[in-house]
Amino acid sequence: MGSVPFSNIQWHAEVTSTNDVAGRLAERGVPEGAVVAADAQSAGRGRHGRVWVSPPGAGLYVSLVLRPRAEAAPLLTIAAGVALSDAIQAATGLSCALKWPNDLYVGGRKLAGILAEAGAAPDGTPHVVLGFGINVLPAAFSPDIAARATSLEGELGRAIDRHALLRACLDALAARYADVQEGRVGTVLDAWRARAATLLRRPIEWQQGGRPRRGVAETIDGSGALLVRTEQGVVRVISGEVRWI
Ligand code: BTN
Repeated sequence: MGSVPFSNIQWHAEVTSTNDVAGRLAERGVPEGAVVAADAQSAGRGRHGRVWVSPPGAGLYVSLVLRPRAEAAPLLTIAAGVALSDAIQAATGLSCALKWPNDLYVGGRKLAGILAEAGAAPDGTPHVVLGFGINVLPAAFSPDIAARATSLEGELGRAIDRHALLRACLDALAARYADVQEGRVGTVLDAWRARAATLLRRPIEWQQGGRPRRGVAETIDGSGALLVRTEQGVVRVISGEVRWI
């Protein structure tokens, strides 16, 4: 199986959400690897129903159409986090930490996020839209977000070439997607663990069945679940959000 090149790129001035546009293309049967990017999103969304603030030119807002094997699907966002952290390092020199499952952090503040959405065409053919947003300019944030978010230009103190960054992201995503599609799962998991090292083995809190739970985040298992040591034993966290305490 060859890697998907991500060379069919549509660039829009403004869309509601690049995930919406990519989802419609996928439903109409566009070949795997189509890329939708936009300068701005009027209804950008994040995980857990949050808004992803997307003013013109302030970030990279990009979605890919993928058709993964069923076994590869659970690891897509883990692989994408590794790919984006590698691409940002290669294109800008900035090193990011990964926070489970797939947020990119610099100095304790969020730089980028990933939103994977599964769907199907009317004939039942399944697809996944993998969207990612990278903050490029610091000006994008309202004061409440500014305390928790950071941006590439804010960190680096210089302008970056966003087209070169996009190309680096697409190349790294193609390589990591090939890893999960072709069964090189261990390579992806080890790369994720190395990039998450500073955030692992620390006490965390998360919600389970509406109740807060606490433990120490140890590592991820072979399907990308977070393994947390608690007083009752090791717990697998498969979805939701964790908070470092
Ligand atoms: C998160 O961390 O909550 C995920 C954020 C994902 C944002 C990107 S921007 C491009 C794509 N389109 C969207 O509406 N969301 C994703």
